[in-house]
Amino acid sequence: MPIRKAVIPAAGLGTRFLPVTKAVPKELLPILDKPMLQYVVEEAVEAGIKEIILVVSPGKESIAEYFQPREDLERRLRESGALDLAAKVHQASNLARVSFVIQAQPLGLGHAVLMAREAVAEEPFVVILPDDIIVHSPGALAQMLEVYDRCGGGVIAVETVGWESVQNYGVVDIGDQGGRVGRVGQIKGVVEKPPRDQAPSNLAIVGRYILPHAVFDCLERTKPGALGEIQLTDGLHLLLQTHQLFSYEFLGRRFDGGRPLGLLRAALEFALDRDDTKEELMSLMATLSLERAELPDRRRHN
Ligand code: G1P
Repeated sequence: MPIRKAVIPAAGLGTRFLPVTKAVPKELLPILDKPMLQYVVEEAVEAGIKEIILVVSPGKESIAEYFQPREDLERRLRESGALDLAAKVHQASNLARVSFVIQAQPLGLGHAVLMAREAVAEEPFVVILPDDIIVHSPGALAQMLEVYDRCGGGVIAVETVGWESVQNYGVVDIGDQGGRVGRVGQIKGVVEKPPRDQAPSNLAIVGRYILPHAVFDCLERTKPGALGEIQLTDGLHLLLQTHQLFSYEFLGRRFDGGRPLGLLRAALEFALDRDDTKEELMSLMATLSLERAELPDRRRHN
């Protein structure tokens, strides 16, 4: 069955970005001029996804606004000759069919995905966590869909991380190396945010999942786990009793858009890749490091 729908949980409080997230949802914070959310929606569309289901919490209405057409603004931009800007504004509201479901209480990622059950209906689907920005062509999701076409079951994106940070992630157990074919491993177990000494590996789950519909029944049965929340990883643990899940080490570079410095780093690297910003940024960075070398203790900002 072709995969047509993507669920994007965007209901978190964005505490790492307070106070800005008092008024602006984290998912709309920009990497240069485009919200984080748009990068992952574009990755989904590139992979052939037709419908995006955003799970939001009350107070995040501006996310819906972002996907609405703004004909008045487009007209003004066209009239003033800013055709490229008019095209960007148009594109943001024409990416895919976007619908919304509300997660009224912050009960965890697994619970947020469960809220999309009706909207997904009886189909396999993908889950994309918008904090994880992955740069590659073809995109991570397109790569994973190829694996899904070959292997079926479910496919979870993973990345090798330092052992000191396994406790921040869901971690997969794929047994010994014999269970791995190229970038694909057969998952034997999953655990959310394990302490280092209990982690089955340092293969961390990254925010891209292709899942069978049966995961919803598992999430219904999932009890609160790490951090007292209903975890998606714990739902996957139950799913493993009846379905095969494969890990996939994607090609590409991941940025952690869930932290201010991760987002800043993404912005810097994206700007270095763009013809219209590269030169200016390079010379700005050279100037900054010279100034700091001369006056290391002088702080201009906090
Ligand atoms: C979530 C998932 C975790 C996964 C991570 C990837 O954790 O629960 O399994 O490894 O995203 O970014 P969070 O970052 O919300 O703590």
